[in-house]
Amino acid sequence: MKILVINGPNINMLGIREPAVYGSQDYNALLSFIRKTCEEEGIEVECFQSNHEGDIVDKIQAAFNVFDGIVINPAAYTHTSVAILDALKAVGLPTVEVHISDVSTREDFRQISYAGKACIKTYMGLGFEGYRQAILYLKGYLGEQK
Ligand code: DQA
Repeated sequence: MKILVINGPNINMLGIREPAVYGSQDYNALLSFIRKTCEEEGIEVECFQSNHEGDIVDKIQAAFNVFDGIVINPAAYTHTSVAILDALKAVGLPTVEVHISDVSTREDFRQISYAGKACIKTYMGLGFEGYRQAILYLKGYLGEQK
């Protein structure tokens, strides 16, 4: 089982950006957490972060026939990007959406998730733990598909 974990804009600023919202751990700590989770679960993982919408679209397209599933935190592009939604629908890979913060209790403009419309499940407000839950859910889902 091989999964791709995509993080969108400003996730590389974790630890510095709004610690009251996103916590004090940095992006490297998130990478270690994801890699450790996948190692424990016997999952092969590649992590990708970009601040650029088109690069995220390119990465999703390149995942076709390479990865079994995707975990994505599209960050701000969650609420704006039809292009990321369309890319997820184009490749048709099972995808789980993650948000570190609980977007459901935040500003009105965060209440729409375009990417989420192509996702089998969403975790929000759990901090890094949301990524672990997403990976476990994807593993279970992919196991059932066999
Ligand atoms: C986020 C929530 C988004 O609204 C925000 O733009 C982010 C991070 C989260 O992980 O909580 O950059 O996706």
